[in-house]
Amino acid sequence: NKGNYEHYMQKEIHEQPESLTTTMRGRLIRGGSCKAKSVLLGGLKDHLKTIRRSRRIVFIGCGTSYNAALAARPILEELSGVPVTMEIASDLLDRQGPIYREDTAVFVSQSGETADTLHALEYALENGALCVGITNTVGSAIARNTHCGVHINAGCEIGVASTKAYTSQIVVMAMVALAIGDDTISSQARRESIIDGLFDLPNKVREVLKLDQEMKDLAKLLIAEQSLLMFGRGYNYATALEGALKVKEVALMHSEGILAGEMKHGPLALVDENLPIVVIATQDACFSKQQSVIQQLHARKGRLIVMCSKGKASSVCPSGSCRVIEVPQVEDCLQPVVNIVPLQLLAYHLTVLRGYNVDQPRNLAKSVTTE
Ligand code: UD1
Ligand code: F6R
Repeated sequence: NKGNYEHYMQKEIHEQPESLTTTMRGRLIRGGSCKAKSVLLGGLKDHLKTIRRSRRIVFIGCGTSYNAALAARPILEELSGVPVTMEIASDLLDRQGPIYREDTAVFVSQSGETADTLHALEYALENGALCVGITNTVGSAIARNTHCGVHINAGCEIGVASTKAYTSQIVVMAMVALAIGDDTISSQARRESIIDGLFDLPNKVREVLKLDQEMKDLAKLLIAEQSLLMFGRGYNYATALEGALKVKEVALMHSEGILAGEMKHGPLALVDENLPIVVIATQDACFSKQQSVIQQLHARKGRLIVMCSKGKASSVCPSGSCRVIEVPQVEDCLQPVVNIVPLQLLAYHLTVLRGYNVDQPRNLAKSVTTE
């Protein structure tokens, strides 16, 4: 049922304040006079000790689910102190990469049925790792075959392009990081401010959804482009990859997410006055580095569209010559949840304006059950 919306993708983008609320329901503890704020993940609580003791945490997934894990990686590293590595499921299998008994392998999958991820799970089970699932589908193969896990509870996602599952996956993995770090006194203040940020996150997403018309106007400007680059770093490297994935898979426009730190190692050669470039430069520890990336792109006459925190337009675009997308600022590790929304809207409007099928992109299936 699409309700008042024309497409499922549109409906699922707009229902993110509600899906995020459902994802967090019953899992955030407000705390009180003598009790600290904390998170409660029923499916993980008996396994936290083992996870904290593991030698490494390995995230394994495909496509959007991989990108969600990439967005959560920095906060998991920070709060757990355990090294976190990333594996695209098919690549792990191609290499038969090493997985050890002392590893915690985390399988991220909206459907819980993706063949590559499922085969990687079988492989990790054979190698004796603790296998944790993060999935949206109760009773799915990944939910059944992992030792433990967390359901993201985002509600059924019908559009082939994943939107609300992505934001809920990031929130769940941030909650996993909070739960693993729960025994560390030195990070308690940090954890409590993230928990406050989670409580307020649905409101911030509601606020960023107001950019709908602005994103439609931007889509009109970009409708006939051949290509669109997206630069991000730190927490928002994942945002660049995921924004580009949305644009290519639904709007059928070439788009590439680029780690901004890699700019001078090749991509800079592409920059001219024609190619549109989205730069994600919201407020966080990498901000000044992104400012210098913007200056360098600007010096090469790049056509820039800069995403920045509200009120910061003049610090990312002093000359006023680039287009600016201002988004509400949230806790750094939650910023990817807010930042992806305008890019989802952009991909959606580009697709409609270009006349392509939004909910069933050419050649793609919702659940990829073959390798
Ligand atoms: C559970 C109930 C929820 C109820 C809540 C009340 C289910 C599915 N969930 O939610 O309806 O409101 O208790 O306390 O009945 N699991 C895996 N792999 C995965 C995902 C989950 O093994 O990929 C396991 C978990 O370890 C757990 C179980 O499935 O044992 C349920 O997980 P989850 O729904 O996340 O647990 P709760 O949030 O506690
Ligand atoms: C992109 C998209 C795909 C899936 C990928 C993994 O919008 O939906 O990239 O994310 O096929 O699917 P799941 O998460 O079901 O394992």
